[in-house]
Amino acid sequence: MSERSELPRRLPSLRGGDSRRGPKPAERSEALARRDNSEALARRDNSAVLRARGLRKEFGRGDVLVRAVDEVDLEVAPAETVAIMGPSGCGKSTLLHLLGGLERPTGGELLLAGSRLDKLGERGLARLRRTAVGFVFQAFHLIDELTARENVELPALLAGRSPRDARRRALELLERVGLADRATFLPAALSGGQRQRVAVARALSNDPLLVLADEPTGNLDSAATLDVLRLFDSLRIAGQTLVIVTHDSRIAATADRLISMRDGAFIDETRLTGGTRGNSGTHGDLGALAGLEG
Ligand SMILES: Nc1ncnc2c1ncn2[C@@H]1O[C@H](COP(=O)(O)OP(=O)(O)OP(=O)(O)O)[C@@H](O)[C@H]1O
Ligand SMILES: [Mg+2]
Repeated sequence: MSERSELPRRLPSLRGGDSRRGPKPAERSEALARRDNSEALARRDNSAVLRARGLRKEFGRGDVLVRAVDEVDLEVAPAETVAIMGPSGCGKSTLLHLLGGLERPTGGELLLAGSRLDKLGERGLARLRRTAVGFVFQAFHLIDELTARENVELPALLAGRSPRDARRRALELLERVGLADRATFLPAALSGGQRQRVAVARALSNDPLLVLADEPTGNLDSAATLDVLRLFDSLRIAGQTLVIVTHDSRIAATADRLISMRDGAFIDETRLTGGTRGNSGTHGDLGALAGLEG
């Protein structure tokens, strides 16, 4: 991811003993500018966080042309959870990469919080990624040399938060994913499920408008899957806008809407009634929905 290219410049502040000092004026104004920007983005179009029209992505050409994403229309409302399912190779990851600005579409329109992602230059795109999107990947993609807390701090720092703020936020998020006592651990000393919970905390660290998750339980055993499943459900209940690609019908069952994809296109869409949104947030209903003990 492009964030990696910014690591060397930013990394010293992760290790520094600067947690006790307040933000410098420049950091504060950067953080405020960032907040103003995302609020302005949200104001410009509050009907949909994400809107895609005729979205296409092609790889190769001629005989080897692959239409990985083929004329996809999608709207995601604020606080909505959308699950996307489909066979291997049908274009789910490619679509998610387009939605989060990790790859550029071949054609079509894409709006994130009212901003035309498909028209942005590299800098604008990188900025929107840093401030508006959180990613969770199947393979976690944590940085091995950084502790859990440092991994979670990183996107907040890249989005312009002061080191003190980023650290506070990271500790809050680790607490929220049940890993406060693992803050100083390196990823190698964490289980798969714990690593993915750190990755979810990291995805939330820049207060994203949208969280995109690609097979977040794909590398987990069933107990760890259940942990991550509960975590996503708590995000949904808290009103986080989410798009999750998954092969796991238990994850899909917790979404507001389920979309089936084949050969790059959406072929079916189901609004899942009887979801758990708005209830007390206990996991009993989730367990029942997912066919598990809560
Ligand atoms: N960089 C690339 N160059 C060429 N073809 C690509 C590239 N990335 C993806 N593809 C092709 O696009 C299609 C969709 O791939 P994608 O990774 O989006 O599938 P997927 O639905 O995520 O599959 P899986 O469930 O196995 O993760 C595949 O046919 C794949 O070979
Ligand atoms: Mg994939």
